[in-house]
Amino acid sequence: MSGQKEESLYLDWNNSFEILNRAYEKGLFVLVIGPKGTGKTSLVREYAKQRSIDLESINFSLRTRESHLVGTKNLNEGNIGFDEGILVKSMKDGNMLYLDEINAAEADVLLRLDEALDDRRQVVLKESDGSVIKAKNSWFVVATINPLTHVGTKELPPQLLSRFPVRIRLDYPSEDVELEIIKRHVKNSKDSEILQGLKLANTLRQAAAVEELYYSPSLRETIAYAKLLEGGISTKQAAEIVFGNVYSQWGNVEFQKVNDIITSMFDT
Ligand SMILES: Nc1ncnc2c1ncn2[C@@H]1O[C@H](COP(=O)(O)OP(=O)(O)OP(=O)(O)O)[C@@H](O)[C@H]1O
Ligand SMILES: [Mg+2]
Repeated sequence: MSGQKEESLYLDWNNSFEILNRAYEKGLFVLVIGPKGTGKTSLVREYAKQRSIDLESINFSLRTRESHLVGTKNLNEGNIGFDEGILVKSMKDGNMLYLDEINAAEADVLLRLDEALDDRRQVVLKESDGSVIKAKNSWFVVATINPLTHVGTKELPPQLLSRFPVRIRLDYPSEDVELEIIKRHVKNSKDSEILQGLKLANTLRQAAAVEELYYSPSLRETIAYAKLLEGGISTKQAAEIVFGNVYSQWGNVEFQKVNDIITSMFDT
């Protein structure tokens, strides 16, 4: 399974496992903050795997409903039952709950989470028999948010933010670290060629950070660039395909700006 293979490739470059361990031992919930594609999901999955903790995950969007979290009534041969949502399930089992992109959720959904995450760690099943579900002591919650500049994200209400007192910031790694990460994903690669792509990616990231460009390439792209090189494509062509072409989405001026950067960095 390719997903599993990828998870074991995780490089814990900023000691996040240590912080997750401390938080887990003390029953503190964790928020991972960082731009897209910096390894937030991989970190959480790899941590759960290494500690052999069962993980329930949900990826939030505007379409996520309370019923996804809490559950829904069902009718089975005339009997009314209840299909537990992942929040209730993880609380009862005392598992790890991963709330991905929590700041993409609607207010009513967040309100329900708020109830579960406060110090009482319980939810009232108003959609079923009104019973109270209390979380096991081992229940552990990790959420991620993308910075507010990310499309579709909203500010997380302060009281919900305060439910996650341990915060891990996962930004783009340094060039050396990113090279190490990429080398976990490709087998036959030349450092010098990957570094050329990383220099370009970092130039584009810096330009995006000061709003000179609309888009900032992630680790997904730098890994893809290295994979194309491995497939025998030239550095310049790989750079155009992975880093350059996407900017035409914002028009020819934006595209040309990036193309000029690529030409200046790759025609030597
Ligand atoms: N530290 C790392 N070690 C190995 N691979 C990494 C690391 N960080 C990121 N990656 C790789 O980069 C890619 C993006 O990572 P991931 O999906 O975890 O990022 P993310 O922050 O969750 O992204 P998004 O915000 O878009 O959900 C994946 O292919 C992942 O394997
Ligand atoms: Mg993710």
